Amino acid sequence: MDSVNYIINFLKHKLKAKNQHGIHSPFVFDLYNNVLANRIPFYIFDDIESIRAKLLLSPQNITITDLGAGSKKMASNRRKIADITKYTSKKPKIAQLLFRLVNYLKPQTILELGTSVGISSMYMAASNSRAKVITVEGDPKIAQIAQINFDKLKFKNIRLINKSFEAFFEHDFDKIDRLDFVFIDGNHQYASTINYFNKIKPKLHEKSIVIIDDIYWSKEMTKAWKELCALLEVTVSIDIFEMGFLFFKPGQVKEHFFLKI
Ligand SMILES: C[S@@+](CC[C@H](N)C(=O)[O-])C[C@H]1O[C@@H](n2cnc3c(N)ncnc32)[C@H](O)[C@@H]1O
Repeated sequence: MDSVNYIINFLKHKLKAKNQHGIHSPFVFDLYNNVLANRIPFYIFDDIESIRAKLLLSPQNITITDLGAGSKKMASNRRKIADITKYTSKKPKIAQLLFRLVNYLKPQTILELGTSVGISSMYMAASNSRAKVITVEGDPKIAQIAQINFDKLKFKNIRLINKSFEAFFEHDFDKIDRLDFVFIDGNHQYASTINYFNKIKPKLHEKSIVIIDDIYWSKEMTKAWKELCALLEVTVSIDIFEMGFLFFKPGQVKEHFFLKI
């Protein structure tokens, strides 16, 4: 992580971010109140958090292949499952926000690039059993742990693909008709982020959402985020600091929002 980029943008976000009182768009106002400001818990949160708690206590080490931008917190490829869980999985607040977003937008097909041990996949899949979650993880040992977690909670609507994102786009992507909800949470580099977006673009439609994680992780990621927000087809972009949301609704005046969560 580029700490200077992160801190500068954190302070800028603090100054610019609004709550519901500063939102004039009815679409974003509704989304804010139902998803971003909503804190109502669901029973399934406890089940997923108990899996996270066990992983955080695991003494086991595994040797992984890092296919992404690397980790500043975990330099070696021999990593503790507890550390992988701690440093890569979305924290409860953000994972539960993804649950609410799925509940609110009711997507049928969700694509997640970056499964890790499966915490965010489980939150998204739990939100709507009729939604199909396709999640892609390159490392075989990490993917195995994620699959064990999905099986423990008997998820039937998660399809885990253990391949690099690049191999997934080459061999599996054509079989997907359309994408309603995409969460890009792996390989946080400028060129990869833009490349993945360009690959998924033909399958998006006017009700799709694309979520880009860690938009301030590095200058490169911030550059990618700003370029995506500037695209003509992106009509609404929302920056909650931890991640950014892109919407493609026609008939909207192009607008960018900095929102507090
Ligand atoms: C930040 S973690 C995902 C966290 C997960 N979404 C969650 O919040 O629970 C990113 C994952 O993407 C995987 N990854 C990164 N680059 C990849 C690539 N090019 N192909 C496949 N997997 C990749 C890493 O192995 C890592 O497990």
